[in-house]
Amino acid sequence: MDKKFKRTLVTTALPYANGPVHIGHLAGVYVPADIYTRYLRLKGEDVILIGGSDEHGVPITIKAKAEGVTPQDIVDRYHKIIKDSFEELGISFDIYSRTTTDIHSKMASDFFRKLYEKGEFIEKTSMQYYDEEAKQFLADRYIVGTCPHCKNDHAYGDQCEACGTSLNATDLIDPHSAITGNRPILKETKHWYLPLDKWEPKLREWILEGHKEWKPNVYGQCKSWLDMGLQPRAVSRDLDWGVPVPVEGAEGKVLYVWFDAPIGYISNTKELLPDTWEKYWKSEDTRIINFIGKDNIVFHCIVFPAMLMADGSYQLPENVPANEFLNLEGDKISTSRNWAVWLHEYLRDLPGKQDVLRYVLTANAPETKDNDFTWKDFQARNNNELVAILGNFVNRSLVLTHKYFNGVVPEVGELTDYDKETLKEFTDVKGSLENYLENFRFRDALKEAMNLARIGNKYLADTEPWKLAKTDMNRVNTIMNIALQITANLSIAFEPFLPFMAEKLRGMLNIEECEWERLGNIDLLPAGAQLNPAELLFEKIEDDVIEAQIKKLQDTKKANELKNFKPQPVAENIPFDDFLKLDIRVGKVLECTKVPKADKLLQFKIEDGMGGRTIVSGIAKYYKPEDLVGKELCFVANFEPRKLKGVMSQGMILSAENPDGSLVVIGPQGPVVPGSQVK
Ligand code: 2FM
Ligand code: ZN
Repeated sequence: MDKKFKRTLVTTALPYANGPVHIGHLAGVYVPADIYTRYLRLKGEDVILIGGSDEHGVPITIKAKAEGVTPQDIVDRYHKIIKDSFEELGISFDIYSRTTTDIHSKMASDFFRKLYEKGEFIEKTSMQYYDEEAKQFLADRYIVGTCPHCKNDHAYGDQCEACGTSLNATDLIDPHSAITGNRPILKETKHWYLPLDKWEPKLREWILEGHKEWKPNVYGQCKSWLDMGLQPRAVSRDLDWGVPVPVEGAEGKVLYVWFDAPIGYISNTKELLPDTWEKYWKSEDTRIINFIGKDNIVFHCIVFPAMLMADGSYQLPENVPANEFLNLEGDKISTSRNWAVWLHEYLRDLPGKQDVLRYVLTANAPETKDNDFTWKDFQARNNNELVAILGNFVNRSLVLTHKYFNGVVPEVGELTDYDKETLKEFTDVKGSLENYLENFRFRDALKEAMNLARIGNKYLADTEPWKLAKTDMNRVNTIMNIALQITANLSIAFEPFLPFMAEKLRGMLNIEECEWERLGNIDLLPAGAQLNPAELLFEKIEDDVIEAQIKKLQDTKKANELKNFKPQPVAENIPFDDFLKLDIRVGKVLECTKVPKADKLLQFKIEDGMGGRTIVSGIAKYYKPEDLVGKELCFVANFEPRKLKGVMSQGMILSAENPDGSLVVIGPQGPVVPGSQVK
């Protein structure tokens, strides 16, 4: 550790307890934070990992209203799901608490009052929408109206989700209250504002001068906020869910969720360490690291630090290693569209595969740009990397030791140049791993750890101990000793990334957890030590498992299309005579075949009561020809015949189009004689 620091406080963004967590949260925040903390712990450093649920804010109240339950019911439900699933994934929080605890309310309330008493707020009145029937001011999300940009009639007071534009509630055309449906009135209300502009010079100096080493995405976003110029921000809201504003004249007002949530880092530390928490927050020799997603940068680098500066007794973060976003199968992850891989469902659907997810999310982490998670990539990384490289090497070195030495670590003999070269290569890994881990480059760090297994695999493939076993057992002793030392090193190198695998491996090697400093040593396993039986570390993931997950996503997509389906506007009225011009008949399918060299077309022979006719229709993607034979359907009988791919078509089969573009043939609901007219 940097000489300056004696301890490290790692925080992870507090997820909103209005839904479970998904792979985007994990890749962006929790897996990297856990890797970092486990690494420091393994180095024997004083480090704590702080987490918790963010249980205030308007979306929670909206969800509660929609379900007819209380906000407390909602947060109790999701806090449990989130906490349990983090634990099962091995995110090694020292505490995972929540923002509805008494400790937190008191801490947030005291924080506000201190700033209030120091005169750090500006009080301002403004006009805000008010629902007279519900007798309450309306948060932006409670105001629905027409977007002035795209005319979507379901835009919210802060954003139109159809065109993505940020809005002010007063921009909406025809605003109405989401609670009563009434048109709200504008009414005066008082709020407290933190004058960010006052802190701008200090923030500029602290970030732009003092933290040029921050990740370019974080530094760049801060710079652009600072260059735009900071404005005072309201830190209170008219709402009945949250920490009450603790001053006179603030009835019915609570702290803005983004004011109380980051204080949750402090209150959760206090809950964990009631007597010593201040050491972690207030001494200069503590290094504070905030792991967050990119949408949280402004709050963690500008707003929260300004709050801490206004208080004056806290340390600022040393680094805020925010990640970019992870997409899913090419689409933005979205809670409202259910477009996500939810952690609790993953753990249920793929039991025992925590490390596979940790591996894939780290190997593909959105550290410098948005990345995509696909189930095919997940399968490939498991099968081609975890099974074929890491699992394979460990298995070979253990199985061969059991075969030739009854599971006892053999003596190392004289080393060849090749042995020395291999050992040098793998002892070098420690330095580069540390460098990557300390600079929050977890993808590269994982690659380095994986290189250890690659080195081991190559060593066994090149030295071929199974061949030498017939002629030169002395040499086999040395080779297997080296292979086992590399294997034991894997249990250290992978501990931060794949803790379940590392523990299983230690069990097979019959060793305790080793400290990080021993990484690179070639005497982790003394000659004569007895190993336990070999077990597989990873299993191949078969296609059906992956296909089931892909199908689940496809079903979600379909359900969303249905939910969002808006029928085409009805066409202009026409006189009845125009309808009569169309001659629609019922026919029975006698034959149906694919049209050669035309993917989309089916050719029908239709019984039409008039001697039969041929019709070509573009529905081949949606039907197997044999499934339509014998069916009754409707067709337009008086179209000019026309040639399609060389076949003369005498009419058009009627179908309905689903939101996803698929077509369903229309037919009568009861028996009808072929040739009958449709009227
Ligand atoms: O974006 C979010 O999910 C917020 N709940 C993060 C809060 S982080 C911290 F301030 F608590
Ligand atoms: Zn819009």
